[in-house]
Amino acid sequence: MSARSCLTIVLAAGEGTRMKSATPKVLHPVAGRPMIGHVLDAIGQAGAAAVTVVVGHAGKAVAEAVAALDGRAEIAWQRERLGTGHAVLAAGQALERGHDDVLVVFGDTPLLEAEALGRLRGALADGAAVAVMGFRTERPAGYGRLIEKDGALVAIREEKDCSQAERAVTFCNGGAMALDGRRAPALLKRIGNANAKGEYYLTDIVALAVEEGLRVAAVEAAFENALGVNTRAELAAAEAVWQARRRSALMLDGVTMTAPETVFLSHDTAIGADALIEPHVVFGPGVRVEGGARIRAFSHLEGATVAGGAEIGPYARLRPGAALGERAKVGNFCEIKNTRVEAGAKVPHLSYVGDATVGAGANIGAGTITCNYDGFSKHHTSIGPGAFIGSNSSLVAPLTIGEGAYVASGSVITQDVPDEALAFGRARQATRPEFGRRLRERLAAAKK
Ligand code: UD1
Ligand code: MG
Repeated sequence: MSARSCLTIVLAAGEGTRMKSATPKVLHPVAGRPMIGHVLDAIGQAGAAAVTVVVGHAGKAVAEAVAALDGRAEIAWQRERLGTGHAVLAAGQALERGHDDVLVVFGDTPLLEAEALGRLRGALADGAAVAVMGFRTERPAGYGRLIEKDGALVAIREEKDCSQAERAVTFCNGGAMALDGRRAPALLKRIGNANAKGEYYLTDIVALAVEEGLRVAAVEAAFENALGVNTRAELAAAEAVWQARRRSALMLDGVTMTAPETVFLSHDTAIGADALIEPHVVFGPGVRVEGGARIRAFSHLEGATVAGGAEIGPYARLRPGAALGERAKVGNFCEIKNTRVEAGAKVPHLSYVGDATVGAGANIGAGTITCNYDGFSKHHTSIGPGAFIGSNSSLVAPLTIGEGAYVASGSVITQDVPDEALAFGRARQATRPEFGRRLRERLAAAKK
């Protein structure tokens, strides 16, 4: 990575009215992380040590969210929305500190990649004063066009200011830009607003630099880098691209996905090599699946860890704090919350296990429920190693069931069970021969 110091200015003062949302646009999530969080991640990977986020509309909410996402980020306010050039100058203080490189990016481009930003910085290192991220498209409408002369970039023309010929250009401004930090302040101050929109266009910096005899460069990148989200439909499109990228990356890292297009990942999902993910699995935030684990179809995981050789599902739900040890098994229609299921333990069918520990090798029968909540507080259930809980038992917490203990099926257990004990918590069965037939005859006679 380059030794040059780098400031990134993230523009996020826009209103985003087309989202029709009470949530500021850049805080809408992709893969469970606000869009601007993805942008902050990319610029961090591109080596930007200093970050200033320019906020305006709903700026307080954006500033708070940014502080939580990235402690390094400073906030600058653009009180009036007078254009992208004006917005960059709002970060004036940080600009004046004199970084070698200044990156300018938009807060609503969640698919921006560090690789493209790295190449923009590379162009500065090679002597350019301004480097622009460009992309090619058959549908350039709405984008600024990269105007070239003799193969060299000389200007960016916004659509509304384009001539007929310029409008036909398909090489477009993707939004991200890199500026020579020593030249940037003076160039930015020269930007005027004599254009169709009456805005201070950041894009005018290209022609100004050329006028001063400085080198400018266009760096071509994939369209996704420029994908700015303005509507919920574009948000969904960005999500789809993000998901496809991450699935591919995981498969390249050795994860098997039978039907990857049906698996939904979170921004922080970690899955080890040789894990198998069956179709229709959804990962919420905070999940780590180790290599060799198997996540069967239609399972939902969030805030959970699954060790190697463990298996969950089909139709399992792991909620925050679920931690499965090696070779543990959680089967169909089970919900596990804030519970360690230790090595080789099994919760195979139709159970709710919350606020508990299930010791190594224990077996939890079908339909077992931990009654962990009394309407006010949550209570813990401890199930010892090798214990056997009969089907359809209710374990009323707080409760300890000892190592190797047995609980008879259908029990309601309210008192601790010592190691190796057998506990019954159910009414004794009474069977009366012939009483069934007599009852039926009596009921039939009464009906007549
Ligand atoms: C901009 C570029 C255009 C490029 C396109 C790529 C300019 C003049 N035009 O156009 O060449 O093809 O992006 O998507 O830069 N913002 C502020 N304050 C302002 C104005 C904008 O913070 O006063 C922020 C917005 O929140 C947004 C970003 O800057 O994140 C871009 O603004 P937007 O109005 O979307 O510019 P475009 O017209 O799309
Ligand atoms: Mg835009």
